[in-house]
Amino acid sequence: MPKAISQFVCQQCGYSQTKWLGRCPSCGAWNSLVETVTKREEGKGRRGKEEIRGIELWTIKTAELSRISTGISELDRVLGGGLVGGQAVLLAGEPGIGKSTLVSQVAQFIYSNNKKKKVIYVSGEESAQQLKIRTKRLGLVGDGLLVVESTDTDAIVEFLEKESPLLVIVDSIQTLTTSQLSGLAGSVGQVKESAGRLAALCKRLGLPLFLIGHVTKEGAIAGPAVLMHLVDTVLWFEGERSKSLRILRAIKNRFGATDEVGIFVMEENGLSPVINPSALFLSERQKLVPGSVPSVILQGLRPVVVEVQSLVVPTKLPYPRRASQGQDARRVELLVAVLTRRAGLPLANFDVFVNVAGGVNIREPGADLAVCLAIASSFANKPLVSDTAAVGEVGLLGEVREVTSQKKRVSEAKRLGFKKIVTADEVRAVGEAIRKYIR
Ligand code: TYD
Ligand code: MG
Repeated sequence: MPKAISQFVCQQCGYSQTKWLGRCPSCGAWNSLVETVTKREEGKGRRGKEEIRGIELWTIKTAELSRISTGISELDRVLGGGLVGGQAVLLAGEPGIGKSTLVSQVAQFIYSNNKKKKVIYVSGEESAQQLKIRTKRLGLVGDGLLVVESTDTDAIVEFLEKESPLLVIVDSIQTLTTSQLSGLAGSVGQVKESAGRLAALCKRLGLPLFLIGHVTKEGAIAGPAVLMHLVDTVLWFEGERSKSLRILRAIKNRFGATDEVGIFVMEENGLSPVINPSALFLSERQKLVPGSVPSVILQGLRPVVVEVQSLVVPTKLPYPRRASQGQDARRVELLVAVLTRRAGLPLANFDVFVNVAGGVNIREPGADLAVCLAIASSFANKPLVSDTAAVGEVGLLGEVREVTSQKKRVSEAKRLGFKKIVTADEVRAVGEAIRKYIR
């Protein structure tokens, strides 16, 4: 093993020193010193002056990227068509969301398509036995999957070089340590160094690499944030643990677009892609109930129909409650204010609750009109006119505005059987929408 010298380098100003301190002596930033390998073995690290040469861009030949399918349509979609040789993918998410399940399913598929080589699963979190139990539960065979129960980066790098597998999975990057640094597993320095070395090795060998990274609710823990620029692709896996819906987003992708999302449900035997999400979200909807209004939101580039629900109840509280799930609470508060002032709804003595059925999170204004109509419908205790959905942003003046990809959203709603879609083309103000469609 090359003997390395590590130093504590300030992430703010680059100042380095040999001891850890809470505060950088040079720029004064708190907690900014990170242990870093600064000098490798003599002879290896210190090269003579390198000769550099420019390359004329037009002379470079590009081959079509050859994509390796992961066998999971929604994952391929987010990756931009599949994995690329040498690609390092960081799969980040809260514990228990299904990261290990997803990569186990990928491992099995990739191995089954090329029986000559193996897939290596470095498991620092779970024992090989626990992995076996999961594969059984998933109904997978698990042959061709080589489990490595190690957390020693140096040994793992050596092993991978010798085996040259089809795909490498590291579960999780926070458990790995290299002897070149003195920090504990999970510290920024350890995570950065281990990930950097694995990514460089896989790039050299042309192997795709999955690094799993945990994040806590607060987004804390050394990990995903410092790893972002070391990898080619960052995937964020999210959802509520108590519900089965899971959404996979690309935050960064050197080999594809970042505006696609993958939608899954976690079932008894693993994750299944959801091919028709709108149908899933509407499956439990009861028609003609006050407080329920369908809308179409964008999940990545795909329009998805969701059901917005609201409940308005009298309250004696001096500050009535405005609570929401699946929609930003401040947005709901703003819409309640608009309804009070611009549509004359006396909501000051009512608690207002808003919920988006099915566990989806709305992060855009496309469902504003549906939220307003749902609140008005519950307040009046009258349902929305049948077979109707609402798509539109609502402004502070109570005006209804057009939203991005409106046509695409309208056709998705029509595909699911809605006859009337209320948009900025139909109504100019939220009050008008309420008078026309809540009768
Ligand atoms: P896991 O993949 O271990 O999550 P992570 O690696 O992100 O921590 O799976 C988490 C949960 O998923 C676990 O609580 C059990 C559940 N699960 C299923 O519902 N079905 C399954 O087939 C599997 C394997 C797990
Ligand atoms: Mg796991």
